Amino acid sequence: MIEIHSHILPGIDDGATDFTAAVRMAQAYASQRVKIVCCTPHFNPAQITDQDHFAFFRTIAQTYNQLTALINDRNIDLQIRLGAEIRLSPDLPRFLETYASLFPLGLAGTHHLLLEFPSGKQCDLTIYEPIIFQLQLTGYTPVLAHPERNLLIGRHNLQILERWIEQERILIQINCSSLCDVPFWKWHKRSRISYQQARLLLDRNLVHCIASDAHDLVRRPPLNRWAFRSISRRYGIERAQRLMQINPGQLLLGQSAAVNPSSH
Ligand SMILES: [Fe+2]
Repeated sequence: MIEIHSHILPGIDDGATDFTAAVRMAQAYASQRVKIVCCTPHFNPAQITDQDHFAFFRTIAQTYNQLTALINDRNIDLQIRLGAEIRLSPDLPRFLETYASLFPLGLAGTHHLLLEFPSGKQCDLTIYEPIIFQLQLTGYTPVLAHPERNLLIGRHNLQILERWIEQERILIQINCSSLCDVPFWKWHKRSRISYQQARLLLDRNLVHCIASDAHDLVRRPPLNRWAFRSISRRYGIERAQRLMQINPGQLLLGQSAAVNPSSH
């Protein structure tokens, strides 16, 4: 399998706390037959100053290099790539114009941007349309990270997502944990809604890939193998392969991705 959303990079955000924790996560991925993990630390362009950007990028690059070396030293059968989970904000197009040449924020250096909506279940997606369109005009393809967790997907928002996908403006990633039909963590109150919304998106053929969004090994662990089985049982193994192997692999190579095995 190939993983496009993980907070394995230690000490950067609320993911792995240190290199020991990150190596354990790498072992967990490898034991689930994940071959490539794209590290996607949280990044909010609106929250840091120009000087902070350079320090942040430098730290990320150094941490990534150190983790790569550790994974190789321990002979863990896993490759890592670099990306980011970027908070969607009106500043984003301008920010990318300024900094993209210094630090490629796309997944594995491609034009695919993993974007997270600000929290707020009630948001109307129409307000993001100008940003989504502007990003596309400048050559980026937004990959919306776990909309089933951040957004109330009522009829109106569903129609917008359908239209954006049809126009090839966006791709959608949902989380492995959203496939659980019972609260996986007692403190994860939104899991029931996330489950229903993830199912809705899958049933409507609106999902391009599934990723763990893992932060650690306890609260938000890699659930890739479990999710693969769950999708295989419900939608067939070809769909599971499409969403967890083929499409994530294509995204990391900068290629497009189809929503199900029968499309192209
Ligand atoms: Fe995330």
